[in-house]
Amino acid sequence: MASPVRVTVTGAAGQISYGLLFRIASGHMLGPNQPIILQLLEIKPAMKALSGVVMELDDCAFPTLVEVIATDNPELAFGDADYVLMVGARPRGPGMERKDLLQANARIFTKQGTILDESASRNVRVLVVGNPANTNALITVSKLSRLDSTQVTAMTRLDHNRATSLLAGVVERPTTSVKRVAIWGNHSTTQYPDIHHALVDGKPAMNLVDEEWMTEEFIPRVQKRGAEVIAARGLSSAASAGSAAMDHIRTWIEGTKSNDWTSMAVYSDGSYGVESEIMYSFPVRCRRGKYKIVQGLNINEFSRERMTVTENELIEERDAIRDLLWPVQMFRCNSNLQPLQTSQACAWVRFLSVTAAAWSNRSWWRVNRPDSWFRKNWIPWSCLGLPGPGRRKRGEKQGHFKQQRRLGCFFGFRWWLASAKVGKTGDLVVQSFRFSNSSLWRNLDSQRRSGE
Ligand code: NAD
Ligand code: LMR
Repeated sequence: MASPVRVTVTGAAGQISYGLLFRIASGHMLGPNQPIILQLLEIKPAMKALSGVVMELDDCAFPTLVEVIATDNPELAFGDADYVLMVGARPRGPGMERKDLLQANARIFTKQGTILDESASRNVRVLVVGNPANTNALITVSKLSRLDSTQVTAMTRLDHNRATSLLAGVVERPTTSVKRVAIWGNHSTTQYPDIHHALVDGKPAMNLVDEEWMTEEFIPRVQKRGAEVIAARGLSSAASAGSAAMDHIRTWIEGTKSNDWTSMAVYSDGSYGVESEIMYSFPVRCRRGKYKIVQGLNINEFSRERMTVTENELIEERDAIRDLLWPVQMFRCNSNLQPLQTSQACAWVRFLSVTAAAWSNRSWWRVNRPDSWFRKNWIPWSCLGLPGPGRRKRGEKQGHFKQQRRLGCFFGFRWWLASAKVGKTGDLVVQSFRFSNSSLWRNLDSQRRSGE
């Protein structure tokens, strides 16, 4: 048998987890031959309820379940995790929109994102379920320095499954006949469930349904299905959400079927002209544990309009929690060094950066009066990368000093930042505050996209 993998589930005493944990433990997510260690995270007040869940897990005597760790300590829960399902968050009630949960749940993901980055396995795969899922996932991504943004996804598989089931129902075929449904954008009422590329038994779905049904019935129904369930149950969907979470991870690992894809909210790379740096749901194909956004689909005007509406909502959500997102990873260097080698390399980098800064300023010290105004103020000037009008000896060029000082300070500062954050397993990572006036970034992004 394979060696056990660690699966972390947050919000483990909640209603989604109550269905999910038993199916994960019985091998429905990773297969019947994969031993599992469950690492369950809850808040203190829910630990008693969680102990009851653990008892029930024990009582099932699942052959694949090796160990259960129940804790309110995120370091322990995320420690060496291979899969993380971030379910723990407040759910919405009747009359609420998912984005009403933004402020309440954002703090959870800020803290857990940081700890996840520090503690989880290097190859961890993360699924964010807690709402608003896309933006919670974005917060998580913004806390990563050791892990990569492609390791974090948010769940729109429930919407994908809902759309598939609804389409299968109307054409009176089993769900297995339906392929290539796509969910674009946010897991919210602005999402765009798209059947323009969908196939039913290999034939275009658009030839089998009429357009009015698609616009008046199908799209709003999928968009508002969560609220429909809440209105009926008085509670948000749980069993279907847990099932979709398992589908999401299983497809990610096993791969998508030939001629099909799935939908996942992933860190946008600008595909289809979508704003980068948001978690946007795209049709994706998975292979060997990696996903790729499906490229080259024809997007008509109808689709483009809806894709933009949901994109704008995600930008708005991002703007609302902008202060929680930065610093972000600006630059990453996979050094392939062992941690010790990395820290030695960093010590050298620091030494060289100090030497370079000192060297670049030495001429200035030589030529300026010790008690001059500039002597007292050269540090702020230099830190800003500004030259400052230093005095010079006859025959020496002012520009020369400017250049030296500017370069020295710039590189010194960047390298200092680079060495300040050393990934535990050997990456040098530069983190930097980004002044996140998002309209500025949006303009830059759109200029980049249009090739200006
Ligand atoms: P629930 O209230 O039944 O359970 C949430 C659990 O999270 C509770 O046990 C709570 O104690 C725990 N929790 C709260 N803060 C925590 C923290 N900081 N660390 C660990 N655990 C914490 O809610 P639920 O019905 O299980 O739903 C959970 C979330 O999933 C909600 O935000 C809901 O809106 C969302 N959801 C998303 C989808 C989707 O498709 N993306 C579908 C359904 C539900
Ligand atoms: C759903 O889609 O069912 C969940 O996101 C729960 C909700 O708040 O609608």
